[in-house]
Amino acid sequence: MMPAESMSTTQLANPAETARRCNKSNRAARKAAAGSFWRLVAAGEPFRLLFPLGTLIGIYGVLMWPLFIWNVTGTYPGQIHARIMIEGFLTSFVIGFLGTALPRLLEVPKMTWMETLGFAVAVIGTVILHACGATMWGDQLFFFTICTLLFLLGTRALLFRKDNPPPAFVLVAVGMLCALFGSGVQVVSSVSATALPEWCFPLSKLLLYQGFLLFPIMGIGAFLLPRFFGLPNRQSFPESLVLSPEWKRGAVFALLCGGMVMAGFVMEAQGDPHWGNGLRSAGILIYFLREVPVHQAGFGGGSLALGLRLALLSIPSAYALMAIWPEQTFSLLHLLLITGFSLLTFIVASRVVLGHSGQSARFRATIWPVLIMTSLVALAMLTRVSADWMPAMRMSHYGYAAVSWVLGVVIWAVAILPGVRRADEE
Ligand code: HEM
Repeated sequence: MMPAESMSTTQLANPAETARRCNKSNRAARKAAAGSFWRLVAAGEPFRLLFPLGTLIGIYGVLMWPLFIWNVTGTYPGQIHARIMIEGFLTSFVIGFLGTALPRLLEVPKMTWMETLGFAVAVIGTVILHACGATMWGDQLFFFTICTLLFLLGTRALLFRKDNPPPAFVLVAVGMLCALFGSGVQVVSSVSATALPEWCFPLSKLLLYQGFLLFPIMGIGAFLLPRFFGLPNRQSFPESLVLSPEWKRGAVFALLCGGMVMAGFVMEAQGDPHWGNGLRSAGILIYFLREVPVHQAGFGGGSLALGLRLALLSIPSAYALMAIWPEQTFSLLHLLLITGFSLLTFIVASRVVLGHSGQSARFRATIWPVLIMTSLVALAMLTRVSADWMPAMRMSHYGYAAVSWVLGVVIWAVAILPGVRRADEE
């Protein structure tokens, strides 16, 4: 082998040769990294592909506002933005999370790289269809994607399951049914406006934009979120295929609280937003007070716990405020969507990425990019919500809110997402 000194002399003497070797070794390193990335995805960890994809889609969906307001695009993004954020951005994270976690929990075959790639293509296709204004086709593809997810995970669970899922996961199934009902009714209504009873349309929008995320947040949250605060987990049971009485009690409690939330959606769809939102707020509060009693955890717990506290507070508060001022639903909803759903998504994704890339020591640490993201997302929420109270500056405030959200997400992505390329044991 050439000694280091003589190598540098040769390289200095021949810069072209040096550049060629550097390029070659960079190419080899890139190829090896890409190879190991796909090996990690193929090892049953779809989040490694779907979390970065979801982040890009979220940035695109929110950037639609400044692009429209500052005259780069001509179409008002209202419905397109909403569909891209729910059926693209949040769906990527839902599939990435469930596709990674459920097979491990149930001890069934993991998701293959072909399945992961298929989901990524389906989500991208859904976003493209919505971006082109083909809402009905976008909703259909989304419907088909969720059916496929249920089929792939459901058949694995039925055929190979060695353990039961946590009881709260009954709410994950309810969330998936909300997605199917919501998108299905939207498709049917766009074909024939009179085919279904009148209340079905508003209910389908509520279940698609809110229920699809809210029920899985409750179900997965009860299992995952106590860990952020070092709280005991009521969802851990000894490995078994038999449903123990404790398991059944846990599932019944989840279904009762979920039932309150569902009744709230139905009441709002039937024209009673006061009680509809109030019931949802109460159902979520009762559920989280028992399953994730953050008030017992004291302070501390690092940046992830701080962001999570804000997200957990935002969700019932948003519903309580909408119960009091239903006429302000249009703006208050983004307290739920921005500091509730989107912040919670990034906090949970941070933990998943850190935990799968050998960085679990950072779970309870101060992580500045997470703190900055949390602050900018909170600022985005305040700007978006307050915008509707200032009609003269409404549109420009939408633009500032979007810029703040995107900036926070980019900072988070640059710091946290490279972990998707690192294996756990590194
Ligand atoms: C951060 C900057 C954001 C801005 C400025 C913004 C702006 C808006 C506006 C103005 C609307 C009403 C559109 C209409 O006229 O129908 C809307 C609706 C919606 N947005 Fe956002 N949004 C932002 C972030 C988000 C995020 C992060 C999510 C998802 C997590 C989201 C999901 C939705 C949904 C689902 C709707 C439809 C609500 C409904 O009709 O019930 N938005 N957004």
